[in-house]
Amino acid sequence: MTVTVDDPPNGKEKDAEKKEEEEQEICSASEHHDKFVPQDYLEGSFDWTEVCKWIANIEATMETPQQMQDKARSKMRAVLEVNVHETPVVRNVAWKVDDSIQVPAKFQVVTTVFCLEYSCETLEGYMRAVKSACSLIEDGGYLIQGGVLEATTYSFGGTRFKCHYLKKSHIIESLKQNGMAHENEHFKFITHDEIFLLVSKKVGSK
Ligand SMILES: C[S@@+](CC[C@H](N)C(=O)[O-])C[C@H]1O[C@@H](n2cnc3c(N)ncnc32)[C@H](O)[C@@H]1O
Repeated sequence: MTVTVDDPPNGKEKDAEKKEEEEQEICSASEHHDKFVPQDYLEGSFDWTEVCKWIANIEATMETPQQMQDKARSKMRAVLEVNVHETPVVRNVAWKVDDSIQVPAKFQVVTTVFCLEYSCETLEGYMRAVKSACSLIEDGGYLIQGGVLEATTYSFGGTRFKCHYLKKSHIIESLKQNGMAHENEHFKFITHDEIFLLVSKKVGSK
């Protein structure tokens, strides 16, 4: 998923976009997983200026895009290669700020946006992906998960991929199975136009 700050398309543009989407070949994300590397963020090979301006606008910060990027980069300790369909889930340490960094086995917060239902095409795959993500969270820690409900494909980097047709009931069941809160004060679920964002606390010990 890419974030762009464009004017909303008019009717003709929408039709052209729809046609382009229909003509695109639809690929399986699992065959392309190794091509997505977050290291571009560290190396500065992607221009984040527009994204930062957009965030600054929402958060009403006075920081410049460059200051925001420098601050975020300075806080990064490591980049891990993760595959939620393999064991162990963390496959490799792709980058560390220095050799003294010990990468923990579990984390206080795991954030995943447009990844879990996009990494698979079946409910079984989605359940495995959530289980893997939750296995990285320490007891009392949190999962922040964003994604899309009820979609069969998505576009990323000019390619169209298949994805799991996710329902809210799948999300709730997957959280239940992994000792994550799915109700009460330890669970928040926000949705708008099929996009959802949830925060769930690890209350069990799975
Ligand atoms: C649509 S991109 C979302 C990227 C980013 N989070 C965003 O919101 O722009 C889907 C992401 O899912 C990740 N992904 C796909 N299969 C995966 C897998 N098996 N394990 C972990 N991540 C996977 C890809 O590496 C890619 O970064």
